[in-house]
Amino acid sequence: MNSNELKNALQSLKYPGVERTIGELKLLGEIKVVNNTATIELLTVSDESYLNVKKIIEDNFSTDFDALNITKRNTAKKDMNYGNSATPNNRAPYAKNIIAVTSGKGGVGKSTVSVNIAIALAQKGYKVGILDADVYGPNIPRLTNTDLQRIAWDDNNKIIPAQNYGIKIMSVALTTPTMDTPLVWRSSVAVNALIQFLEDVAWGELDFMVIDMPPGTGDVQLTIAQELPISAAVLVTTPQIVATDDVSRAIMMFKDIHVKMAGVVENMSYFVAPDTQIRYDIFGIGGGERIAKKYEIPFLGAIPLDIQIREASDKGEPPVTLGNDTQKKYFQDIVENIFKNSNFNL
Ligand SMILES: Nc1ncnc2c1ncn2[C@@H]1O[C@H](COP(=O)(O)OP(=O)(O)OP(=O)(O)O)[C@@H](O)[C@H]1O
Ligand SMILES: [Mg+2]
Repeated sequence: MNSNELKNALQSLKYPGVERTIGELKLLGEIKVVNNTATIELLTVSDESYLNVKKIIEDNFSTDFDALNITKRNTAKKDMNYGNSATPNNRAPYAKNIIAVTSGKGGVGKSTVSVNIAIALAQKGYKVGILDADVYGPNIPRLTNTDLQRIAWDDNNKIIPAQNYGIKIMSVALTTPTMDTPLVWRSSVAVNALIQFLEDVAWGELDFMVIDMPPGTGDVQLTIAQELPISAAVLVTTPQIVATDDVSRAIMMFKDIHVKMAGVVENMSYFVAPDTQIRYDIFGIGGGERIAKKYEIPFLGAIPLDIQIREASDKGEPPVTLGNDTQKKYFQDIVENIFKNSNFNL
């Protein structure tokens, strides 16, 4: 098989789980066959989709060549000049305030915190929308028990957001055929989808738009900072990763691009054994407060590791509304502290 034959064969290979080929998804970079060794460069955005595509190529072609080198294109490191985000556009003039919930790392509880603070704001009587900006791993619909709702267009050609627990909800997961359709977009497409969710959704007038950001400091985060005047950024971390570079990088980036940091939430902070009530500081004590001090941003509160929080969240029953009083209070107190440290327009 020569380079061209391999290229054609790869183009028509189906991406696992979706009715699209790798060619249609434009995931192929440079392809070379030399001395029966194939070198294939993939343009996948996430590591997950890189590994998925790599595997199906190996499954299909490893017997055709002596060796198969499948690489992922290295994207240039972003320089730290974020353009004009000091004076961002406003793609959401209907929202009086925008709260962005972020973190350096994945899996620390951004989505959980986003949903529960959005509902806590609605409990205070405000009109609230939540935008799931995690376009590669959208899970706000599951957390709000709206995953079976599918969005539709209204008479003015605007998208009608899902609604539950007193908040409006928009997520790419409401637009895909099934909840688990993998999303393998290039970042430019992801960014366009977000802009559409800001401009083409019938949000109505909102007092707050809460944005659940994807992990890290990539294109989506930059776009949000450039296209929206963020009133308050809430950084979620866990005790064991507070000292890592990712968290520092996230804080530095937000400071660099002049986003107002409302403060740090320490999630999965400690564990109280349900049977003995003994408290275990599994990951050490005071990490969130230390990072708040180090970067001179407020500490907004700690949420313990609580089995019920996970179970309830998985069922789409947010603890701030359906949990016990202690669980409600974690999130309501954080909202009070965000108010103390922000200057909202209400
Ligand atoms: N305080 C907590 N106690 C117990 N489980 C929690 C707690 N906070 C979050 N979880 C669970 O941890 C998992 C990750 O939380 P979540 O999805 O909110 O994180 P995330 O930062 O949004 O992740 P990602 O980066 O993948 O978007 C979920 O299963 C969630 O239910
Ligand atoms: Mg999330």
